[in-house]
Amino acid sequence: MKAAREKRLPQSGTESFNVDKIRRDFPILKERVHGKPLVYLDNGATSQKPQVVIDALNRYYKSENSNIHRGVHYLSERATANYEAAREKIRQFINAERGNEIIFVRGTTEAINLVAQSYGRSFLKAGDEIVISAMEHHSNIVPWQILCGQIGARLRVVPINHDGEFVLDEYRRLLNESTKLVSLTHVSNALGSIVPVKEAVRLAHERAIPVLLDGAQAVPHFKVDVQDIGCDFYAFSGHKLFGPTGVGVLYGKAELLDAMPPYQGGGDMISLVTFEKTHYNVLPYKFEAGTPNIAGGIGLGAAIDYLNGLNWEEVCAHEHDLLAYATNALSAFETIRIIGTAQDKASVLSFVFDHIHAHDVGTILDQEGVAIRAGHHCAMPVMQRFGVPATARASFALYNNREDVDALVQGIHRVLKVFS
Ligand code: ALA
Repeated sequence: MKAAREKRLPQSGTESFNVDKIRRDFPILKERVHGKPLVYLDNGATSQKPQVVIDALNRYYKSENSNIHRGVHYLSERATANYEAAREKIRQFINAERGNEIIFVRGTTEAINLVAQSYGRSFLKAGDEIVISAMEHHSNIVPWQILCGQIGARLRVVPINHDGEFVLDEYRRLLNESTKLVSLTHVSNALGSIVPVKEAVRLAHERAIPVLLDGAQAVPHFKVDVQDIGCDFYAFSGHKLFGPTGVGVLYGKAELLDAMPPYQGGGDMISLVTFEKTHYNVLPYKFEAGTPNIAGGIGLGAAIDYLNGLNWEEVCAHEHDLLAYATNALSAFETIRIIGTAQDKASVLSFVFDHIHAHDVGTILDQEGVAIRAGHHCAMPVMQRFGVPATARASFALYNNREDVDALVQGIHRVLKVFS
């Protein structure tokens, strides 16, 4: 939250960032819950959608619906053009070198499973090591455990310190001649910690080890440039980036993707099929078997158009301000412990009470109209690391404001009253 992150933030603070205007773009924020105005602080789970994304989905089903890459008719050509235009928007958004390095998938989870099963099963063998960190989401643990079980490889885990920070020295020590893949989160969903991924990639590349990054919690908060980071694979989900559910992205360097076998077989991923042999399609289609989530891809393109209209430095500064404001407010409660106090942190605030379970906190806050997530956040090893069964987690997006934090604090007073 301080040091490294501050270097990225404009000194002017949030003055020109018009959060009221942004809030008007997200119709759900006008909803009431249990008779109270909705205060949505569960953006780590999924973000809300601006009207332009909802309109893009409507327009597709109302006047463009057709299958892509197949038809010679008007609608099919139009849907294909819009879907491929979305791929190009994504390429530019993360600054990938080529469009064929952008693979549409269902989400981050499918992207990681794709790499584990395609790259992992082809290029790793018994005795090889895969390095992950202690703050991974289950989707960046379990696919590797499955792979390890299949081929006899071994999972190595980089520890995190008491603040929930990635320990770079331990990571450096873990890399050795048996390490054949590194797969790290960019931002922890449970703690908000930002991993120094550029340095992690550099250290891995010194040993010619490819690196996958789980960017699900990074792309909604700051600009990601995959060429600058230098990673080999980058995965993220559309629905956390203000786009639809059921669509996500795997970025991969073309030379790696080219060398990898298909993950799934079916239509669209082939160029020729006979009963004797099948020739696979070129990238990216080799990895896109079957009819994809066409509306989802187009909707994600609309979300990126929307984000391109914002100033990312201002977005970062605004979220930084919200996180600092909320951290200060919660620190004033004697019975609250904040879990995840990294120096470099995205706008995620996990906390526990010494005498109240996170689920009770979440349930009472819900009655006040405040939506947070309570539980292990699909990151049970993080809970084990901090010796808690669960945390309450408020995760902020660009449309949240200080009033939302005030509502959270009011809700916490209510929680304390109920349990006093
Ligand atoms: N991975 C999502 C979260 O952190 C669902 O809530």
